[in-house]
Amino acid sequence: MKPQNLLFSLFLFFTVTTAQPTIQPGTTLSAANPGQTWSSPNNTFYVGFSQVDSSSYYTLTINYNGGVPIWTAGNATTTVDSKGSFQFLPSGNLRLLNGSGAVVWDSNTARLGVTTASLDDFGNLVLKNGTSTVWSSFDNPTDTIVPNQNFSVNQVLRSESYHFRFLSNGNLTLRWNDFILYWNQGLNSSLDVNLTSPTLGLQRTGVLTIFDVAFPSGSYTVASSNDYDEGGTRLRFLRLGKDGNFRMYSTAIGTGTITMVWSALTDQCEVFGYCGNMGICRYNESSSSPNCGCPSENFEPVDVNDSRQGCKRKVEIESCVGNATMLVLDNAKFLTYQPETLSQVFSNGISACRLNCLSQSSCIASTSLSDGTGMCYLKNSDFISGYQNPVLPSTSYVKVCGQAQPNPPPGLQIAEKSKSSSLRVWVVLVVVVITLLGLIAVEGGLWWWCCRNSPKFGSLSAQYALLEYASGAPVQFSYKELQRSTKQFKEKLGAGGFGAVYKGVLANRTVVAVKQLEGIEQGEKQFRMEVATISSTHHLNLVRLIGFCSEGRHRLLVYEFMKNGSLDNFLFTTEEQPGRLLNWEQRFNIALGTARGITYLHEECRDCIVHCDIKPENILLDENYNAKVSDFGLAKLISPRDHRYRTLTSVRGTRGYLAPEWLANLPITSKSDIYGYGMVLLEIVSGRRNFEVSAETDRKKFSAWAYEEFEKSNVTAILDQRLTDQDVDMQQVTRAIQVSFWCIQDQPSQRPKMGKVVQMLEGISEIENPPAPKAITEGSIPGTSILSSSNVSALSTFAPSAPTPSSSSSYQTLGVSPLASGRNIERASSSLLP
Ligand SMILES: *[C@@H]1O[C@H](CO)[C@@H](O)[C@H](O)[C@H]1NC(C)=O
Ligand SMILES: *[C@@H]1O[C@H](CO)[C@@H](O)[C@H](O)[C@H]1NC(C)=O
Ligand SMILES: *[C@@H]1O[C@H](CO)[C@@H](O)[C@H](O)[C@H]1NC(C)=O
Ligand SMILES: *[C@@H]1O[C@H](CO)[C@@H](O)[C@H](O)[C@H]1NC(C)=O
Ligand SMILES: *[C@@H]1O[C@H](CO)[C@@H](O)[C@H](O)[C@H]1NC(C)=O
Ligand SMILES: *[C@@H]1O[C@H](CO)[C@@H](O)[C@H](O)[C@H]1NC(C)=O
Ligand SMILES: *[C@@H]1O[C@H](CO)[C@@H](O)[C@H](O)[C@H]1NC(C)=O
Ligand SMILES: *[C@@H]1O[C@H](CO)[C@@H](O)[C@H](O)[C@H]1NC(C)=O
Ligand SMILES: *[C@@H]1O[C@H](CO)[C@@H](O)[C@H](O)[C@H]1NC(C)=O
Ligand SMILES: *[C@@H]1O[C@H](CO)[C@@H](O)[C@H](O)[C@H]1NC(C)=O
Ligand SMILES: *[C@@H]1O[C@H](CO)[C@@H](O)[C@H](O)[C@H]1NC(C)=O
Repeated sequence: MKPQNLLFSLFLFFTVTTAQPTIQPGTTLSAANPGQTWSSPNNTFYVGFSQVDSSSYYTLTINYNGGVPIWTAGNATTTVDSKGSFQFLPSGNLRLLNGSGAVVWDSNTARLGVTTASLDDFGNLVLKNGTSTVWSSFDNPTDTIVPNQNFSVNQVLRSESYHFRFLSNGNLTLRWNDFILYWNQGLNSSLDVNLTSPTLGLQRTGVLTIFDVAFPSGSYTVASSNDYDEGGTRLRFLRLGKDGNFRMYSTAIGTGTITMVWSALTDQCEVFGYCGNMGICRYNESSSSPNCGCPSENFEPVDVNDSRQGCKRKVEIESCVGNATMLVLDNAKFLTYQPETLSQVFSNGISACRLNCLSQSSCIASTSLSDGTGMCYLKNSDFISGYQNPVLPSTSYVKVCGQAQPNPPPGLQIAEKSKSSSLRVWVVLVVVVITLLGLIAVEGGLWWWCCRNSPKFGSLSAQYALLEYASGAPVQFSYKELQRSTKQFKEKLGAGGFGAVYKGVLANRTVVAVKQLEGIEQGEKQFRMEVATISSTHHLNLVRLIGFCSEGRHRLLVYEFMKNGSLDNFLFTTEEQPGRLLNWEQRFNIALGTARGITYLHEECRDCIVHCDIKPENILLDENYNAKVSDFGLAKLISPRDHRYRTLTSVRGTRGYLAPEWLANLPITSKSDIYGYGMVLLEIVSGRRNFEVSAETDRKKFSAWAYEEFEKSNVTAILDQRLTDQDVDMQQVTRAIQVSFWCIQDQPSQRPKMGKVVQMLEGISEIENPPAPKAITEGSIPGTSILSSSNVSALSTFAPSAPTPSSSSSYQTLGVSPLASGRNIERASSSLLP
């Protein structure tokens, strides 16, 4: 904490003790004294000045305790100097004054009979004429919406050149310069309602809701945070960012730190004008946030210190002597949003798209889609917004004067600049290094000569390592070490959703499984924190993390090695690979062990973890066939802002084991793991994939067919046919089947908790007869109306197209885009509404 912050907190503390429920006319806050504030009765919010980025300018804001602003007098550029003040005048208006005495902002409420001003515990600054509200900050929002603030149709959020509006038909829109509509989300089209007077409200739990009497339940869920209902005391708020994206954040009182929990556009580069005119938005290897750059060397940035200001041609087309040419940008597009009246649309193929633009003097750029449609967009407007990404199926052209001069490949620029100046340094370095190497060689030779036969040396490091492993703290390995212990990543054990796994032997001869993580964009510190969480999670039924490596772009995890591999190899054996059959007792123990492992993750450990990908591939067996759950905590490691593959359809988790809420835009909770577990349990009993379809199952999904058989009390038909001649405890089998059907209920609330599952399996807890886990077509959760697509139901009767039970690769996670936090699920449709 910086000293001034500490001071600030102290001030806050004192104002806390003197907090007045109402603000007296004539009261003044001064910018020079930021500790002076007007607090809400229970100190959740306060009005006060805050410094803009350690400059000598101040803004007047309403803040959540801790310093998160939720309202600003004027806009973000409305600042005053240190002599500025904020006054509640006896005439009844609020006024922000500059040190020079100039009025910078005014509530315009003079002579409206205002008698009192107060800040309530929801953060609303209200001016009243005794009885009724004359003006309030909630009715005059800036860029933020907080719970209890009713956002109505004629209100607007503003940030730089971006606007957010809520339309009377229920649509939410984002516009650039009030002109280009780049985001527009409406109600589900199958919902036939005519809204009367809708309002938009954010609930404390993090659910964004439209209220209107026309909805059967009175409300409609638009979006929900990925920390939905977690920590009821957290403040969730919506904010239109300076970057044109509309996001939901979550913050804890007093901390001042905010976490993004939802965003309107998952791909920041799709925000119109984000990189300014002629600017190109790109993601690069070393950072997950977008970069703005110029199309080519024919351009230069408008402001070298702010790449978001866009680019301009070094030679304008009008003043071009000679001929213009078209610069080619592969995998790039110029954002085209309706209504962009000036863009011309043709369907005439790629080369015509380039030539048409070149020959028309009004055209400055064009985009040709290579998605088979042959669509061509000619850009005549004087503002174009570009996006380049290897996944984009389009090519763009920009008119430039003379020869096109493409950007040099990244990295080259820097290397060339520093070449000449560093030559001398190099000579010196080389001499020094050679000398040092010589010395080391001599010493090394001596050491080798005298000590090579001493047995002490080899085992010393191994012993040291053993000590470290035993202590339980994760060991940090160098990438070299792991390369060595895996023999250059020679023996591949498998490939999961997070990366390939290799067998390795550490210096102390411990056999390990080394997982090479992919798609991790997290900083070193955050990665270490997650590793610490994972490795502090110890349980007999969880695979233990021994260590990790975080070096440059390399992120590896080192786990204890499980001799018998994953459960799927035992359950779904084929005729070519017989003899790996598990008997009933082993299966039941595996089911129980897995349930206990997950119970620990959900209910018993300090930082609870939702696994997000429970499936047989992630249940490993040690030499005694004890089940150990693997890959927990990894969903959290993946960068929340890995946009490079965003345009592809993506759902993390594995088809067949995905709970319906994953695809229905509902919050993911531990109950989603229960669903996956239910499917696994059914597979443990039956030895068949839950989504397998065959003549034997009347061409229905196995899980659907199994429930029908269960209803006919035909439990033996569900049991793995290879076990029928063995000694099987049919009571246990029936219990397991009943539990599995409870777990795969479509409604998360109907599924039991994992602790309860353990008790039911053990026979400690009674099991009621499970209802058919059928699709909810129009289910509703109290207070909200939720539509869920029925085709993800466990019991829908058609076959899924993707998985073919013979190839294990088809069970890998769907899509390539890694997922944000454990619960931040990117849905198949990035659409906001269900
Ligand atoms: C406030 O006063 C400072 C100098 O005292 C001046 O530079 C600045 O432009 C003024 N701002 C407004 C909005 O009047
Ligand atoms: C302050 O009051 C608000 C509204 O009544 C309530 O939600 C919040 O929990 C209170 N905060 C504290 C710290 O008491
Ligand atoms: C306050 O304003 C409302 C509406 O403008 C008006 O009806 C009411 O009489 C006013 N009350 C007082 C005390 O001025
Ligand atoms: C928002 O609307 C609700 C219900 O219509 C109402 O109870 C509440 O007082 C309103 N809040 C504000 C700040 O106007
Ligand atoms: C901020 O407010 C001032 C004064 O009302 C206005 O001139 C300016 O355009 C606004 N800036 C933005 C970015 O909206
Ligand atoms: C509302 O949004 C939907 C997309 O969800 C869109 O199809 C529809 O045209 C929008 N309506 C208006 C009036 O913008
Ligand atoms: C909504 O309004 C349209 C046109 O006014 C009408 O055709 C339609 O039946 C209305 N729908 C409902 C559910 O009232
Ligand atoms: C960019 O920043 C540097 C250092 O802060 C400053 O010297 C330079 O004048 C700035 N350039 C422009 C164009 O603002
Ligand atoms: C411009 O193009 C025309 C036709 O292709 C050609 O005749 C002319 O020489 C070119 N001019 C220059 C300066 O390159
Ligand atoms: C990647 O982005 C970072 C930060 O935005 C920037 O400093 C770096 O130069 C970029 N790298 C390349 C290769 O463009
Ligand atoms: C709208 O709701 C229906 C169910 O009523 C669902 O099948 C459909 O997928 C939903 N549409 C969208 C765009 O989510």
